[in-house]
Amino acid sequence: MSQPPSVAIIGAGMSGLSAATRLRQADLQVTLFDKSRGSGGRMSSKRTELGTFDMGTQYFTARDPAFAAAVAQWRSAGWVAEWQPRLFRYDENGLAPSSDQQQRFVGSPRMTALSRGLLGDLPLHSNTRIEQLQRSDQQWSLLDSEGKRYGPFDYVIVAIPPAQALPLIRDAAALAAPAAQTEMEPGWAVALAFSASLNLPFDAVFVRSGPLDWVAREASKPGRVEAETWVLQSSPRWAHAHLDSEPQAVIGELLGALQTMLDAPLPAPTFQHAHRWLYARPAAISDWGALAAPAQGLYTCGDWCLGGRLEAAWLSGQHAAKALLDAT
Ligand code: FAD
Ligand code: NAI
Repeated sequence: MSQPPSVAIIGAGMSGLSAATRLRQADLQVTLFDKSRGSGGRMSSKRTELGTFDMGTQYFTARDPAFAAAVAQWRSAGWVAEWQPRLFRYDENGLAPSSDQQQRFVGSPRMTALSRGLLGDLPLHSNTRIEQLQRSDQQWSLLDSEGKRYGPFDYVIVAIPPAQALPLIRDAAALAAPAAQTEMEPGWAVALAFSASLNLPFDAVFVRSGPLDWVAREASKPGRVEAETWVLQSSPRWAHAHLDSEPQAVIGELLGALQTMLDAPLPAPTFQHAHRWLYARPAAISDWGALAAPAQGLYTCGDWCLGGRLEAAWLSGQHAAKALLDAT
């Protein structure tokens, strides 16, 4: 009996996991690689003694019917839950309630519960940065940063941000040209904990003035530990201007911006941590879905192929998997 086709997926964020789960359903042999300690990519949660902080994806919405169906399954599995924050907005007119009817979801008890659920028992080589793809006899082998070789594989899906993908896909013009023209914007995320309740009237704020972009109370999300824990996210523009700032300085500035927004001083945080995202979101929305070089058995996907949201990353992974399955 012939072996099922083998597929290497580089990147175990939402797009890579989406492609992996689809291909596993079709009985292909899938192996994931990620340079990080685990899966999830920008769907990341920092675990501390005071509870977890979602440092990347804050929540997600489901507009596409196929994605909505997947979210329904994830809810049944207990990996995600609906989040109903008390929403405010802040702009040049000040701070005001801004409730709406939009359904929003989060991983529960932390955002990475979703990536962990999707990964299941799929094989993942973590702490493995793939630096080179080599093709011979119609098959691929992968080389990591330590010079270790993996493979051979019949197909490769590169599911990472464009600047990181380019060295791997540069010989496939159909993939490399769009990747080279895609700009990603940076972002800073700050986690804060306070020893007592701040007694604020909101759980999250869409910020449209000053350095901040988003403020959320972690404990308002389902399944979290009851604690006064907050995540602040900067605007891309502010992050551009502060790319090389020290984390401590970033914490000070974003905490200062929060106090300006509240028009009140805050107590000193009992915990603080800053994370810089070099490739937080695409600067513009694309409609490629995924990119394919079927003659070479090479595909690429990621939110940058479709639109900078978790839903887009999932859909892009589905597009890549479909293109690959169409070619088998
Ligand atoms: P990634 O998640 O970036 O996954 C790529 C993976 O590839 C990573 O795990 C990385 O470690 C790995 N990798 C990279 N290079 C290599 C290599 N050479 N070898 C091996 N592995 C490699 N979306 C929403 O819908 N709602 C939100 O509220 C929201 N908030 C956000 C807030 C922040 C701060 C950020 C940064 C993003 C946010 N997003 C949000 C966007 C959302 O997180 C992304 O769209 C989505 O997670 C992208 O998934 P991906 O698979 O395309 O890429
Ligand atoms: P959504 O529909 O809740 O929000 C989309 C955008 O609409 C918001 O960014 C906000 O500008 C506006 N908005 C929505 N509801 C609002 C309300 N009640 N009051 C005021 N403004 C409101 O969610 P969607 O479309 O799924 O977007 C995902 C979120 O992810 C967005 O907030 C986006 O900014 C954020 N994101 C953040 C990234 C980062 O690096 N910080 C990267 C990618 C996405």
